[in-house]
Amino acid sequence: MNLLSRATSRTIKINANTDPDKPSTKPRLQQYKVDLNTCGPMVLDALIKIKNEQDATLTFRRSCREGICGSCAMNINGTNTLACICKIDRLDTKIYPLPHMYVIKDLVPDLTHFYKQYKSIEPYLKKKNVPKDGDRENLQSIADRKKLDGLYECILCACCSTSCPSYWWNSDEYLGPAVLLQAYRWMIDSRDDYSSERREALQNPFSVYRCHTIMNCANTCPKGLNPGHAIAMIKRDMALD
Ligand code: SF4
Ligand code: SF4
Ligand code: FES
Repeated sequence: MNLLSRATSRTIKINANTDPDKPSTKPRLQQYKVDLNTCGPMVLDALIKIKNEQDATLTFRRSCREGICGSCAMNINGTNTLACICKIDRLDTKIYPLPHMYVIKDLVPDLTHFYKQYKSIEPYLKKKNVPKDGDRENLQSIADRKKLDGLYECILCACCSTSCPSYWWNSDEYLGPAVLLQAYRWMIDSRDDYSSERREALQNPFSVYRCHTIMNCANTCPKGLNPGHAIAMIKRDMALD
């Protein structure tokens, strides 16, 4: 018998009542009790159960339920992570939206600026010459493909960027760890012809150089990636340009 099936209930406190329809109502923690004998083991299971059985207004994002889509990123007991792969392992679980973001409702942060920054790095393959007829594939050696390991797995959940103190204070201009990891992923893709232009676009005091290697990003990434290392590689390559 595991710990969860022995327990009868857990308390989940959620940052609820952030409601765009009631702007004068202050956000507050709302408490729910969940019987874990009739609930799956993950925090997302509890959220879905609460929404189905106790409070249909509770608002959060989710889709894949297996750590792939990045939708269910939130702050659980002080750590940014994915609710669908985070076990309920305490008597008292506190859940907040991702920190230092505008909140649309309850656990849903406004990611508009984050996605705008992502768009700004042109996260797609760019070629200088159109492939000739009959030669439409952009081939890559096994060794070059391997260089993308530790980068391509990023699901853009924003857990890292919203745990980064530099991003908290400078997100208007600093791109943050998630977007920079993606920028590096395209810079080192052997099939892309715009590596130096991509680096050139970041040559300013803010886009990259606000990273002070605090490494909160690597500590929090639910996929085990290391955006701080990718940023260090960008800085090195920019210095060598
Ligand atoms: S690097 Fe990790 S934490 Fe950051 S966006 Fe990608 S998957 Fe999420
Ligand atoms: S290493 Fe850089 S990007 Fe990562 S948390 Fe620290 S300052 Fe932010
Ligand atoms: S629901 Fe897709 S990552 Fe959690």
